[in-house]
Amino acid sequence: MFKIYKYRVSILGTGFIGLCSAACFAEKDIKVLASTHNEKKAKMINDGIAPFFEAGLQEMMDNIKKKHPELLQCMLDPIKAVLETDISMITQGTPMREDKSIDLSYIESTAREIGEALKQKDKYHLVVVRSTVVPGTTRNLVGKIIKDVSGKEPGKDYGLCMQPEFLAEGRSIEDTLHPDRIVIGEFDVKSGSMLQEFYEYFYGEHLNQCPILRMNLESAELVKYGNNCLLSTKISYANEFANFAELVPNVDIVQVMKGVGLDYRINSRFLGAGVGFGGSCFHKDVNAIKAWSKSKGYTSRLLEAVLDINDDQAVHIVDLAEELAGNLMGKKVSLLGLAFKPGTDDMREAASIRVVNELIKRGIKNIEGYDPKANEKAAIELGDKIKFADSIEQVLKDSECALLITEWDEFKKLTPEDFKKHMKTPNLVDGRRLYNYEIFNKNLFFRAIGRINLE
Ligand code: UDX
Repeated sequence: MFKIYKYRVSILGTGFIGLCSAACFAEKDIKVLASTHNEKKAKMINDGIAPFFEAGLQEMMDNIKKKHPELLQCMLDPIKAVLETDISMITQGTPMREDKSIDLSYIESTAREIGEALKQKDKYHLVVVRSTVVPGTTRNLVGKIIKDVSGKEPGKDYGLCMQPEFLAEGRSIEDTLHPDRIVIGEFDVKSGSMLQEFYEYFYGEHLNQCPILRMNLESAELVKYGNNCLLSTKISYANEFANFAELVPNVDIVQVMKGVGLDYRINSRFLGAGVGFGGSCFHKDVNAIKAWSKSKGYTSRLLEAVLDINDDQAVHIVDLAEELAGNLMGKKVSLLGLAFKPGTDDMREAASIRVVNELIKRGIKNIEGYDPKANEKAAIELGDKIKFADSIEQVLKDSECALLITEWDEFKKLTPEDFKKHMKTPNLVDGRRLYNYEIFNKNLFFRAIGRINLE
């Protein structure tokens, strides 16, 4: 007996957005056909194994495997996946090119595959771009390729939407299940309404607290950049003020940003000063929209400054270290944390990479790092630029300066005594404002971003 599903969705691309959406949809009785060209990944997904770590994902996949394995399947053939479903979501990566502009090649090849499928299909089909793409891509690249390859008309034979996602790593499942808004960019009303109905079915009552915004394709594409660029700007803004704070004794950036963030028009999130932002999205997206606007004849001064301030934080933390410990050449320097944020082993654009490069530029060669989760990935990224330790004790042993780069809970528990016990000279620079300033400043040789010593 064939079961009739209310919705059958193909997810083309099995990264964070793709697989987390796939698993969340399948849990709600939606038939999902994911597709990837990576055989190993497809097999893992079909065996119910998450191919990467994301909080809650494996548990969700276990549950699906146990109760309804037929609801989540992964194919190597995207054309078949499209043909057997009614909605297709493009969730491919849009990496940064060497020249920092956006690489749309995966989007292009997926659009071609959808076109091939739609050539063979008579029924109306909805195509939704979920990847982050520069304005114009959904209409002029995706829509055009599908039209050219399939011979079908957008708006008549197939629908076209752009729906940005806003999930942060470590929160992907939570963010997918409880978004604060759903943005639907639509080629025409029919496309947008079909996607809205799908989400009304999927989210049910959650939509009482979650507005659905409908707009054209290009506006929706720009919303995503608006989001990531403003978050990056908030961080660089806090770092700019951290540098102001360091011009005056006893001014503390943490208190300053708390005061600023309590304004109801601002909010205190992403005002954390430190060694700077990293991750797979902020650099990529800020650079992509900057390069895009430049190609259209407008040079962004604001985003240039956001990136410059961020890069300078890595240089600044090394300046603080040398102010504190003197010239570090020939001395052992320890890095506490390497991942771009706690809770992940992701090293993409991590601040640790910029700090290591700056240390090496200054002739400092004896660098050792320790991360509770990211040592392995860091070894791929940093090669033999640094040594790796298996524990806090080991990384601090014989060290003359420690730099706190990632605010893992494991590091939060450390007291001044721990640093004194293990280090040759207990110099510590807090790059994330993790430690109690008064206590650490009294008991150690200490510096922190956004505050200078009490005189
Ligand atoms: C981000 C966005 O939050 C998400 O909406 C988007 O879809 C993808 O990019 P993510 O890269 O997973 O998510 O991490 P996020 O938690 O946003 O942190 C990014 C970086 O900013 C980290 O390196 C973090 O350490 C840094 N950060 C964050 C600060 O330096 N200060 C802050 O106050 C907040």
